[in-house]
Amino acid sequence: MSSTPAIDLGAYWMPFTANRHFKEKPRMLARASGMYYETPEGRKILDGVAGLWCVNAGHGRREITEAVSRQLAEMDYAPPFQMGHPAAFELANALVKIAPEGLGHVFFTNSGSESVDTALKIALAYHRVKGDAARTRLLGRERGYHGVGFGGISVGGMVANRKAWPSAMIPGVDHLRHTHDLARNAFSRGIPAHGAEFADDLERLVALHDASTIAAVIVEPIAGSTGVVLPPVGYLKRLREICDRHGILLIFDEVITGFGRTGSPFGAQEFGVTPDIITCAKGLTNGAVPMGAVLVSNKIHDAFMQGPPGAIELFHGYTYSAHPIACVAGLATLDIYQREGLLTRAKQMAPAFEKAVHALRGLPHVIDIRNYGLVAGIELEPIAGSPGKRAFDVYLKCFERGLLIRTTGDIIALSPALIIEQSHIDELFGVLSQVLREAA
Ligand SMILES: Cc1ncc(COP(=O)(O)O)c(C=O)c1O
Repeated sequence: MSSTPAIDLGAYWMPFTANRHFKEKPRMLARASGMYYETPEGRKILDGVAGLWCVNAGHGRREITEAVSRQLAEMDYAPPFQMGHPAAFELANALVKIAPEGLGHVFFTNSGSESVDTALKIALAYHRVKGDAARTRLLGRERGYHGVGFGGISVGGMVANRKAWPSAMIPGVDHLRHTHDLARNAFSRGIPAHGAEFADDLERLVALHDASTIAAVIVEPIAGSTGVVLPPVGYLKRLREICDRHGILLIFDEVITGFGRTGSPFGAQEFGVTPDIITCAKGLTNGAVPMGAVLVSNKIHDAFMQGPPGAIELFHGYTYSAHPIACVAGLATLDIYQREGLLTRAKQMAPAFEKAVHALRGLPHVIDIRNYGLVAGIELEPIAGSPGKRAFDVYLKCFERGLLIRTTGDIIALSPALIIEQSHIDELFGVLSQVLREAA
């Protein structure tokens, strides 16, 4: 295997990265196939996180490569404003087919962050076109992650992502309390038993602000980036009921839970709760081309389709909305998911995955383990005065031993590709348990 020629690492300002630390001892990836990355030196790395929760069908899928190259040769770009191309409509139709009933329309974006900001804008504009323009408040949840746009960080609840921009938050936002309850739910298998009543926090905010000022609530069915926080039994249903009672739109941010992660195409179906809007991205193109989408209920979409027929209904969109390359990548991806049964495969693999992750119980500093579908969180006791260090050290050691995991604070998050087999589960937890055993 060839090694990489020395590269000047100075110019690239890396996102969500400890740049100086990384550049002292870089961790480079050069190739990927199936469940594995490979470093420039040819070292194999088992991918325990599907890239970044996105490569759900595994790496290097030939069908996606071929679809993208064909499309590039045929038509590289088409303007999405006042023009169309077939793949955009085909992908929207294909998405609607796997979406929960009633979510019949799709707005394309280029990322999860853009999907979130688009969804928030649609929610606000919806109330306005309905003549309910006082509904301007948006509610998020503590520990929520909704990307990095100003809308997303405003409704988001991860402190580090917000504190540098206190004056830039959009006005009128408030937050529900989070549902993480170690005291009652530690080491739960699957959905935790306690905490449906956390949904009643929405009634508190309704009482405080009055429902007539609230446009929408946005939550992740399973909060991923904050460290795998699961919805307690009955919680999402109760949120839906309260939203319905007060005319508030419910948005599920399914950037992580979309495309089979939970064992259903979307978390909405898995948990039996249909929101008014779903945001998604990542697994939509198997991570191969940046793309996001916002699935919108017929009720919302149709409310916009009024007024003079020549008028633009929504003054929103991106130069790269429904980019032809992304659309064909999305179509090829959905085709693989369908053909290989990947949108429900997490259900099949979940028992083995659950057994393996819960076998880590009792290892040094492990204070909680939680899992659902092909997602797991392993929470470590923080080192006093150095939050995040313990888990990050585990991350570094795992990479040295050939395993890619993800950490947020002192929580390890696992989200392997949906093609995972028992042998990968054994390898993943073999390395992780060894590293945890050695953890200081
Ligand atoms: C729930 C959720 N929303 C939004 C985003 C932002 O997506 P992107 O990084 O594609 O902008 C993420 C990314 O992890 C996410 O997990």
